Amino acid sequence: MSNETLSVIDNRTGKSYELPIADGTVRAIDLRQIKTSDDDFGLMTYDPAFTNTAACKSAITYIDGDRGILRYRGYPIEELADRASFLEVSYLLSEGELPTQAQLAKWTHDIQYHTYVHTNIIKFLEGFRYDAHPMGMLLGVVGALSTFYPDAKNVHDPENRYIQRVRLMAKIPTLAAFVFRQTRGLPFEFPRNDLDYIGNYVNMTFSIGGQHKPNPVLQRALEILLILHADHEQNCSTSAVRGVGSSGVDPFSAISAGIAALYGPLHGGANEAVLRMLDEIGEKKNIPAFIERVKAGEGRLMGFGHRVYKSYDPRAKLIKRVADEVFAETGLNPKLEIAVELERIALSDEYFIKRKLYPNVDFYSGLIYQAMGYPTDYFTVLFAMGRMPGWLAQWEEMVTDGEQKIARPRQVFTGLEARPFLPIEQRK
Ligand code: SDX
Repeated sequence: MSNETLSVIDNRTGKSYELPIADGTVRAIDLRQIKTSDDDFGLMTYDPAFTNTAACKSAITYIDGDRGILRYRGYPIEELADRASFLEVSYLLSEGELPTQAQLAKWTHDIQYHTYVHTNIIKFLEGFRYDAHPMGMLLGVVGALSTFYPDAKNVHDPENRYIQRVRLMAKIPTLAAFVFRQTRGLPFEFPRNDLDYIGNYVNMTFSIGGQHKPNPVLQRALEILLILHADHEQNCSTSAVRGVGSSGVDPFSAISAGIAALYGPLHGGANEAVLRMLDEIGEKKNIPAFIERVKAGEGRLMGFGHRVYKSYDPRAKLIKRVADEVFAETGLNPKLEIAVELERIALSDEYFIKRKLYPNVDFYSGLIYQAMGYPTDYFTVLFAMGRMPGWLAQWEEMVTDGEQKIARPRQVFTGLEARPFLPIEQRK
């Protein structure tokens, strides 16, 4: 390989610099030596929304946006979705290897015995208005959990990190189910340790009078959806978890920041926005007019496009297959026909082709969640439950990365220079 450096000439001074290249990057701090005078601060990079900036090194998830590849710790997402359980994947993301029988048994046991939340959490949930958005409720109670585990502040103690990881993995289904019950005005169903991870969540969500007849096809479909959502390298919510976590705060607080970021319609909130978009379109005959409005810049085709994938999101392909299995059980969701036609038209339209806009993970997932009986504004809670192991793994990788410290970007100042105070009588 040729000399791994970048030769730079600053034409303001005629000076030249050799910048080392490593891992396909130059270190932004290496630009600071490029100055026009001794009191010059030196060059920085300017990258709003970090479209071309690596903020960390990570060994957890690999994405190839052009080839539509997604791997967790080297395992292709297609194989994990087909052959792994969600608890195996959650172990893999944090530990780096699929668990042995004994490791999985311990991981499962540890989680099963931490599914309860302090009953005071119920008081928090009962404090929300009847129409509170489920993601706002989840955000609130996960953040509140940090006050029940003050020991979680010991983020540099590996054993402490493990117990907090167990608590968050164990309690997120309970909190998600309690949020569901609160929105429905139903009494809370408490965790049952005789049920597996998905079965326990479904029972806490849907059981009436302690009775719920599980549907194994739907439960496996939900488990596959959680696996597909488990991690996605440095997406907006994971970057929030890493950024907030870099201040040394406990993982409950850092993860509540991730939930807040995921809530947004451009991120995890897109699965909810897709269903609202399909409702707005209403019938197939309205699709061409809708597409024209999108192309005129009057809104976005929700569930389409991605910062990294410039080809079909591999998760969307797998979700479409899950959809077929779910609808065979529940009956076809009439909106699927509109979604499939919307996709067909968009994929043949120059506007979307030119911008490499394809269906992403959120385009079809909401249709499945709706068929499973979840309300539209609850879909992103399911995304958060799936992403929990990814947030935890990425948080742990950040905390243990010797190169990381508190995240504190710089800015390009565009404000006013110094000026004297203006007495109120002189202000216009
Ligand atoms: C997730 O990062 C992750 O990994 C996220 C995620 C994960 O697992 O964590 O994969 C989950 O968040 C999936 C994305 C869900 N969001 C949506 O479906 C919302 C709709 N999509 C977008 O708003 C958009 O595509 C983003 C936010 C996903 C990506 O936006 P980018 O990379 O910032 O792209 P951009 O906004 O700069 O758009 C580039 C061009 C623009 O047109 P021009 O200005 O060049 O004319 O493409 C257009 C945009 O207007 N465009 C769209 C569009 N998405 C981008 N036009 C219509 N419909 C869309 N959906």
